[in-house]
Amino acid sequence: MPGRLYGLGVGPGDPELLTLKALRLLRAAPVVAYPAPEQGESFARSIVSSWLEPWQREIPIRIPMRTGLPPGSVYDAAAAALGAELGRGHDAALLCQGDPFFYGSFIELWTRLAPRYGVEVIPGVCSLAACAAAAATPLVARDETLAVIPATLGEAELAHRLAEADAAAIVKLGRHFRKVVEVLDSLGLLGSARYVERATLPNQRTAPLASVDATSVPYFSMALIRPIMLRNKS
Ligand SMILES: C[S@@+](CC[C@H](N)C(=O)[O-])C[C@H]1O[C@@H](n2cnc3c(N)ncnc32)[C@H](O)[C@@H]1O
Repeated sequence: MPGRLYGLGVGPGDPELLTLKALRLLRAAPVVAYPAPEQGESFARSIVSSWLEPWQREIPIRIPMRTGLPPGSVYDAAAAALGAELGRGHDAALLCQGDPFFYGSFIELWTRLAPRYGVEVIPGVCSLAACAAAAATPLVARDETLAVIPATLGEAELAHRLAEADAAAIVKLGRHFRKVVEVLDSLGLLGSARYVERATLPNQRTAPLASVDATSVPYFSMALIRPIMLRNKS
């Protein structure tokens, strides 16, 4: 019998936000895989590191993160390595920061492995929920709609999506931060935008977005805006 692949959402950063189900499956998995930078520690692994045991075989999936999307060959190789373990009958836990199906690199492996193996996805606490809680601001209320917008989009597209939105979360800020500030300013939304970085970690930071130094913005940061509140006031 082939093994089963578990896509484990490990939450936004605070290990206490791991679900009981993810913890149970993690502790039982003979193989534990996780995305990692080309050099250095994996964020997903760091969240669960205190529960890992020496008998568990670890497979880091090293993903180049310079510019643009990582090449498909990285995921092809990772899928082959995981497929080999599953083919030998070993269950594998694939760690995913936040939730696996919310912009997770897990999706690349799920696409490649789900047609051939049993795969189960265990939802995790998503960064949207974590950032809203950190900023002490509701994401959406009543019949409002929420737009989740990657900062990687071009200026015109960002402006278009924001102009249509009741409420918005802009993810993947990092080096796109200056562009986002300019677009928000042009729409009169800069003053009301909130900024959250590294939500739920000990070095979490929240601030009015307008006050943030663009040179200090990490990848793990998000902007939260509710344009509908401004429209309702005017
Ligand atoms: C590739 S997506 C992965 C999202 C993740 N799967 C989730 O469910 O939250 C990475 C983006 O999510 C956001 N993010 C993830 N964790 C975060 C955190 N702890 N604090 C702030 N933003 C976070 C950032 O916008 C970051 O650029």
